[in-house]
Amino acid sequence: MSDQAEDKSSAAIVFGGSRGIGAAIAHQLADDGFAVALTYLANADQAAAVRDTILRSGGRAIAVQADSRDPWAVREAIDAVARELGPLDVSVINAGALRLAPIASFPLEDFDLLVDVNIRGVFLTMQASIPALRNGGRLITIGSNTAIRSSSPQGAVYAMTKAAIVKLVEGLALELAPRRITVNNVQPGPIETDLTAGMAAALAERIPLRRIGKPAEIAALVSFLASSDAGFITGASLTIDGGFVL
Ligand SMILES: NC(=O)c1ccc[n+]([C@@H]2O[C@H](COP(=O)([O-])OP(=O)(O)OC[C@H]3O[C@@H](n4cnc5c(N)ncnc54)[C@H](OP(=O)(O)O)[C@@H]3O)[C@@H](O)[C@H]2O)c1
Repeated sequence: MSDQAEDKSSAAIVFGGSRGIGAAIAHQLADDGFAVALTYLANADQAAAVRDTILRSGGRAIAVQADSRDPWAVREAIDAVARELGPLDVSVINAGALRLAPIASFPLEDFDLLVDVNIRGVFLTMQASIPALRNGGRLITIGSNTAIRSSSPQGAVYAMTKAAIVKLVEGLALELAPRRITVNNVQPGPIETDLTAGMAAALAERIPLRRIGKPAEIAALVSFLASSDAGFITGASLTIDGGFVL
């Protein structure tokens, strides 16, 4: 949390906050007292539903359409935070895409999509967040345990994009350390969202805890990383996956 967080004007942005893990993070950060901006790509209704739930609970929230691959849109979203909510303390980069296929037959347009959303989008949202974040703030990415585990024979391209985030986070942590902004990467295993629809039972069989995770369990770790108690954690990729193995 930033040096000024106690002044009750703390704001957070969740890139990709309309559904799944991002929506859970938006709700959790609102419960933690942050005014929350959430971005979305296409699901305006679901983004509005997350925003309205926060507003009904007495929180402050806005929903902003912003494709993470579009530098102008991402900067607009960051500007909206300053304009409507206040100075930025926490930036959560959650937006991501998944495509599965063997490398031999992996469609080039799917390869480009994964690189665009999962690497270029993370890079652009990092770039836009850096000047806006207050000293002592938090930048948190949502990667994947596939960066360190062998996921599936069809998951190599997705895993490659999530491994790239590990290095971006390590480098940015060094760059922002002088401003006491921590930069960390949360690496979920299989979580119950639209992304894993229809795969839950098969995935659970490969997890020692015999279940897939819940979005709220990822949000709880993000909440901790955003808190002042986590001020000595930076450059880390933290895996949260029920002990997922081959
Ligand atoms: N679910 C899992 O098992 C799992 C495991 C490991 C890692 N992850 C990672 O966790 C993150 C969230 O996953 P999820 O399962 O919650 O996904 P999800 O249910 O598919 O939701 C994706 C979210 O990202 C937004 N989004 C997608 N592309 C975007 C773009 N180009 N620009 C802006 N927003 C975009 C979506 O907006 P719209 O609603 O408008 O489409 C939505 O809010 C992803 O980075 C994913 O790779 C998920």
